[in-house]
Amino acid sequence: MANFVLKGNICYSENLNKIRIIPQAYLVCIEGESAGVFRAVPECYAALPVEDFGESIIIPGITDLHVHAPQFAFRGLGMDMELLDWLESHTFPEESKYADLGYAKRAYKQFVNHMRRSATTRAAVFATIHAPATMLLMDRLEESGLVSYVGKVNMDRNSPDILCEKSAQASLADTEQWINDTKTRYKNTRPIITPRFIPSCSDELMHGLAALAEKYQVPVQSHLSENLGEIQWVKALCPKAKFYGQAYENFGMFGGKSPCIMAHCVYSGDEEVELMKKNGVFVAHSPMSNSNLSSGVAPVTKYLEAGLNVGLASDVAGGCTENMFRVMADAIRASKLRWRLQDQAVKPLTIDQIFYIATLGGGRFFGKVGSFEPGYALDAVVLDDRSLDHPQRLDVRARLERCIYLADDRQISAKYVAGNRLF
Ligand code: GUN
Ligand code: FE
Repeated sequence: MANFVLKGNICYSENLNKIRIIPQAYLVCIEGESAGVFRAVPECYAALPVEDFGESIIIPGITDLHVHAPQFAFRGLGMDMELLDWLESHTFPEESKYADLGYAKRAYKQFVNHMRRSATTRAAVFATIHAPATMLLMDRLEESGLVSYVGKVNMDRNSPDILCEKSAQASLADTEQWINDTKTRYKNTRPIITPRFIPSCSDELMHGLAALAEKYQVPVQSHLSENLGEIQWVKALCPKAKFYGQAYENFGMFGGKSPCIMAHCVYSGDEEVELMKKNGVFVAHSPMSNSNLSSGVAPVTKYLEAGLNVGLASDVAGGCTENMFRVMADAIRASKLRWRLQDQAVKPLTIDQIFYIATLGGGRFFGKVGSFEPGYALDAVVLDDRSLDHPQRLDVRARLERCIYLADDRQISAKYVAGNRLF
């Protein structure tokens, strides 16, 4: 693997509340990892080639901690509905099409192309119930150079015939075969157990998936406490659980032994938060989706203060774009409205906090990812913001703030994942 140095205006999170900014600095990459950021190239690295990005801004790659690949096809549609109606009318019919590999090939190619060009370097991805199409998606993601977890979705109840597995046994057998087929097939792409959410999965299926997660040491991802109608439904389906998260815990799929991502957590109460903290569950905060589907606004700063792992997520197609800069800005705006209109006890997010969540917060699910401190994977996005023109002089901090509100893939001039340059 090539060792090299990147030069530019370097920004990364020093901690939750502070972005560190080092103008005109050198980021050294050794064997795919950062060896640190320096104001001058240290003697021991003097022989390495330097890629000079001039006045561009270099930030750690962004992690999209929850995104539905098959839903990319209908992003921006059906946004006048709430979650359960939107699933029935748009999501399930679209996802059923992935039984057809020809369709999957066309659709997943578009999804992966957009992800590759975006600021996202790592992602936790939902596919559909179809193992062949899921493997096709994994092949395409592997070719892209991105690093991802990808889940074949499990659904064996409360789902239309066109998108319902025949039985818990059939779903489990298919899932185990798929894990065996994919566990060591790729360098950058890994399977993740993916029960859609409790309403879609029988008790037998949930228990069986927990056993597979343990047997194969595979992480888990699902949805939690997203929408009021959904939460009521789960209460009726799992009367023994005191709260939604406890229902996952009772099935053995709420962190602890198997790392776990739960998307949304808009309505997680104190006990749910406590259990997430104890079990190290990652919250995939999805503010754009939560406003599009009128779900609500998660109290993110409360979760941060409680010490939870929080990452950011597009949740396409609940969210209508893969552009994580848009999602960062939406997170800040939603938190301000929540603070103003709903609860002054939960402070709005700051720029520094959202930058942390988008980089280090979600990156942590992948290990040492999301920072340029020595030892972190060298995931980097180079932002050439000259097209976001302005008449006055702005410092690097101000330019980075503007990128969070204004940037899309047109400003991304280069991208590295674990030291590999994608473009
Ligand atoms: N809950 C169950 N399935 C889904 C989905 O596809 N999207 C969202 N946002 N929530 C879900
Ligand atoms: Fe989702």
